[in-house]
Amino acid sequence: MLSVSEPCLGQDEKDALISVIDSGWITAGEKVRQFEQAFAALHEAEDAVALSSCTAALHLILLGLGLGPGDEVLVPAMTFAATANSVLYVGATPVFVDIESVDVPLMSLEDAGVKCTARTKAIILVHYAGYLADREKWQEFAAKRGLMLVEDAAHASGLKEAGTFGVAAAFSFYGNKNMTTAEGGAVIAREPGLLDRIRQARGHGLTSATFQRHGSSMPGYDVTMLGYNYRIDELRAAIGLVQLKKLLDWNERRRQLTVRYKTILAERVQHVKVPFSDSRTSACHIMPIVLPSESDRAEVIAAMRASGVQTTIHYPPTHLFSYYQSKYPGTELPVTEDFASRELTLPLHPKMQECDVDLVTSALADAL
Ligand SMILES: Cc1ncc(COP(=O)(O)O)c(C=O)c1O
Repeated sequence: MLSVSEPCLGQDEKDALISVIDSGWITAGEKVRQFEQAFAALHEAEDAVALSSCTAALHLILLGLGLGPGDEVLVPAMTFAATANSVLYVGATPVFVDIESVDVPLMSLEDAGVKCTARTKAIILVHYAGYLADREKWQEFAAKRGLMLVEDAAHASGLKEAGTFGVAAAFSFYGNKNMTTAEGGAVIAREPGLLDRIRQARGHGLTSATFQRHGSSMPGYDVTMLGYNYRIDELRAAIGLVQLKKLLDWNERRRQLTVRYKTILAERVQHVKVPFSDSRTSACHIMPIVLPSESDRAEVIAAMRASGVQTTIHYPPTHLFSYYQSKYPGTELPVTEDFASRELTLPLHPKMQECDVDLVTSALADAL
């Protein structure tokens, strides 16, 4: 079966894990710090904080920005549930915004304008599938209304533009992402104070971490805020350091495969829509397509599976999940709902060959 995504892991990652185990120090220490600095450098940022997940990163960004009960945060529903969940973690209210179009399934500026109220404090932009939102337009939108811009850059590791939109960006290193540490995440933020608050909040709100106390003659610490255990460890950081070295090459490979998909689909499967027809900067995280209205997606998925091709759906929209429907009944996002009902994600990962793209597109054409 050709998988939708696959982590690239090999001898370099194994060697990195062995060296951490041999070092005798496995919880957050020097490797985590090196990983943060290398991740920041690749994104041309001053600094970064590494965490246990992107979800933790989103949570601590919103917490660090002081968002809480009574505040509203604009979020897309065409994303993973973690985006809206993070808003609820701080007691604020997620307000769902529709996508621009089936061709550009990113948060709609127009609908965001309609959804803004006096309580709106921030916007979480998602670079869906790795395709960057329009930075200047959103910066202008946010500046006019005095809103904070946060990026959910879970799909955009390796793009130097990710993390430059607003106050902070959250990245994911989950197993299916462009680079992985199995579980893991990071924050890039403009304001050093915000990064400091996030660094403290990830370790129970303690004023110093175990590693710092280990090497110091001052074993004491204070707790000056309510913190969490959102730490990453040396093993994950060591894998991350290896993966970072390969990330840009992998992203380039994803881009080449995406171009091949687009070319073949335009020639052979013209009744399928391929989003992002413009030449937008992308980390090419996933390969979404939109099936014709008259096709039966479940049958297409089953037929492709029978041809040895796994597919999936990005995403069942958040506002239609039972939990969100019972919390915010009656939310309607017509463009998101149309896109979500027809979207199909094709396999895309750096281990794929050109012939795999040919196999997938043939299987798709046959299935349709
Ligand atoms: C858009 C988006 N945001 C947030 C997350 C959460 O990432 P993590 O699993 O690292 O918490 C994901 C993960 O799939 C995602 O795709």
